[in-house]
Amino acid sequence: MRVHSFFLLLLRLLLCSRADALFGHGLVRCQLTSLEDVVYVEQYYINKFLLIQYNSTLGNFTGYTKRARDVADGLNKSPDLMRSEKRNEEKCKSHIPFTLDLHSKPVEPSVRLRSVAPAGSKHPGMLVCSAYGFYPKQIRVTWLRNGNNVTSDVTSTEELPNGNWLYQIHSYLEFTPRAGEKITCRVEHASLTGPKLYEWDPVTESQRNKIAVGTAGLLLGLVFLVTGLIYYKKKNNAGRVLVPTG
Ligand SMILES: *[C@@H]1O[C@H](CO)[C@@H](O)[C@H](O)[C@H]1NC(C)=O
Ligand SMILES: *[C@@H]1O[C@H](CO)[C@@H](O)[C@H](O)[C@H]1NC(C)=O
Ligand SMILES: *[C@@H]1O[C@H](CO)[C@@H](O)[C@H](O)[C@H]1NC(C)=O
Repeated sequence: MRVHSFFLLLLRLLLCSRADALFGHGLVRCQLTSLEDVVYVEQYYINKFLLIQYNSTLGNFTGYTKRARDVADGLNKSPDLMRSEKRNEEKCKSHIPFTLDLHSKPVEPSVRLRSVAPAGSKHPGMLVCSAYGFYPKQIRVTWLRNGNNVTSDVTSTEELPNGNWLYQIHSYLEFTPRAGEKITCRVEHASLTGPKLYEWDPVTESQRNKIAVGTAGLLLGLVFLVTGLIYYKKKNNAGRVLVPTG
């Protein structure tokens, strides 16, 4: 029914327009002005020129040319149309909670803790704690050393937009590794019921590196083996061709 009256209005505007090529379009907008309030706007264009607009704050249609003003006056005198516009405004309002929910549901970060080469620092080691893909933006990434808050030698990036509503952040800790020391990255975020701790484990990381080196070595060996086989086969074939038959 809504769409029906929309097209009727466009058609009426088109018929009283004198331009050669006519292109009409309408725009319906449900615009949030605060957390509770909305403006419901309908706009009717001919050849990209705004002729008539309904604005729920004013509660009436406004025309922007002489002819359009006449049409708008007519529309404003139709109680049915005014009631239906009020209903649209209510519908627009009732969608606020859904829309807000869609945008404000917290998304838990995925956290990665790893060591990197320190860039010219007084400490030989550097850890980076990265939190990826979280929402909302507010987050706290801090460090613990044997259960105590670390206050120095920590730097952090801003919360960087991921481009898809989500954010990422990277916190760096410069440190001098000591045997038996426990270093932990602590993440606090709206998506979590409490702080979440990620413990640095140099053993698993060095094992992971060993596995990586081992895999690389195995791959390299395979490359040599395959190259060798191809070479061997080529040489064999070449030899066969050279041998005169008959
Ligand atoms: C609707 O009307 C209000 C009150 O005049 C105004 O502040 C607002 O900008 C209007 N909205 C649009 C989209 O024109
Ligand atoms: C629309 O409503 C506003 C505010 O009530 C009023 O000032 C304005 O003259 C009205 N416009 C028309 C075209 O009736
Ligand atoms: C460490 O910092 C956290 C959060 O900033 C705080 O709640 C806690 O009391 C601090 N602990 C110590 C031992 O200072």
